[in-house]
Amino acid sequence: MNQDKETLLQLEYMEKCRDLLMEKSITGSMPTFHIFTSGCQMNVLQSDSVTAWMEKMGCIRHDSEDADIIIYNTCTVRENANQKIYGHLGLMKNLKKKNPNMRIVIFGCMMQEPHVVEKIRKEYPFVDLVFGTHNIYKFPELFYRMETSGGQIIDIWKDTDEIVEGLPSSRKYFFKTGVNVMFGCNNFCSYCIVPYVRGREKSREPEAILEEIRGLVSDGVVEIMLLGQNVNSYGKTLAHPITFAQLLERIEEIEGLKRIRFMTSHPKDLSDELIEVMGKSKKICHHLHLPLQSGSSRILKEMNRRYDKEKYLELVRKIRAAVPDISLTTDIIVGFPGETEEDFQETLDVVRKADYDTAFTFIYSKRTGTPAASMPDQVPEDVVKDRFDRLLALVQEKGREISSRFTGTVKEVLVEEESKEPGIFTGRTEHNLLVHFPADKEMIGRFVPVYLKECKGFYYFGEMAKGQEA
Ligand code: 5AD
Ligand code: SF4
Repeated sequence: MNQDKETLLQLEYMEKCRDLLMEKSITGSMPTFHIFTSGCQMNVLQSDSVTAWMEKMGCIRHDSEDADIIIYNTCTVRENANQKIYGHLGLMKNLKKKNPNMRIVIFGCMMQEPHVVEKIRKEYPFVDLVFGTHNIYKFPELFYRMETSGGQIIDIWKDTDEIVEGLPSSRKYFFKTGVNVMFGCNNFCSYCIVPYVRGREKSREPEAILEEIRGLVSDGVVEIMLLGQNVNSYGKTLAHPITFAQLLERIEEIEGLKRIRFMTSHPKDLSDELIEVMGKSKKICHHLHLPLQSGSSRILKEMNRRYDKEKYLELVRKIRAAVPDISLTTDIIVGFPGETEEDFQETLDVVRKADYDTAFTFIYSKRTGTPAASMPDQVPEDVVKDRFDRLLALVQEKGREISSRFTGTVKEVLVEEESKEPGIFTGRTEHNLLVHFPADKEMIGRFVPVYLKECKGFYYFGEMAKGQEA
């Protein structure tokens, strides 16, 4: 279907939903909704889109779970996220008994797994609407079906070729937001469920991305985060292919945009061209998230990552040569099937050498349907736990040392919000380092020079550097 036509159709459904909700309202007030999001930045962005639709329908956003409509946007990368959702649904059952008018909506990655949908159908029949990752743009239509039917609506698509443009969005911060550049993943890392639940890689047209960013900038956005499972392979499948580095150069030209971030980068696709563009750029932030997953070349092969320890460390060297003060962050999995103590030592070795500011560490989680799930030699739980603790201790020790390197300098901070402590505000440097400092509300959304007085581990305490240039 023509994309504009699809957006118009959904706008029509949105109007119909609004009329219906108004008709149904006994008190005259519109229903409240609460949206619970787990998982990555992509999910956050998709929740923003659903929030925008709900608000356009006249519903009122509510901060806690005692709302009329509860919406779950789910993640299934690791098993514990799934368990959390089932736990929530268990609680919802009682709430819904007390308030039968309550509606429960659940969508996202976890719903792309047939066994999950089967479980919801059988064990949680009180859930009103279930949909996946490919038909989120049909939210108003799905919502309308839910409101006009008596039973549970389940609508899951296996995959889609379509990227629908021009959908509404409602962002948390007026001055920064994420922007999708691509959807899906073709890499099939052997432990990962994402390619099965997000489908094949699809890039947005560069013009659509540029137009969206121009619109955001004219609406007050100064910082954007370009999002994709593997942004380094952006553009390869377009009718007129372009590289991610070329896209970045075009985004850089947008006047008024001050900071560009992106994630996630796959080491196998991080090109010299991209490193060069990062080195030249005035707007690309000096932060790179470069998932390592394992430091052992043997395990990396089993993981189907298509790089080895040496290639990874060589990349780190090249990036640091082009952008000497760059902050590197990473993801690491412990306990992949067959991982030996020697393999694990290789991971520790990379952590010692790569000088990460932060590393997100995960215990390997067996995902049904992935090749790793049926690999022999799954590592015993106590061994994994012991390795995880040792890795975490090293990551924290190194992280404290590395991220304190800016102590005593002045950095430009984009002020985000007031912290829990009144009068103390938080913001981020271009290195993505968190800074707490005394300020006032007017500073929110502005760049201010901050003297980084003390590094407290994962954040700095600072003070505004009056009269100094960042
Ligand atoms: N088990 C543990 N961690 C995983 N990740 C992806 N799949 C799994 C899994 N099965 C981690 C990877 C990825 C991050 C988003 O989640 O480190 O980079
Ligand atoms: Fe999963 Fe690998 Fe794709 Fe990342 S690149 S989403 S880890 S399959």
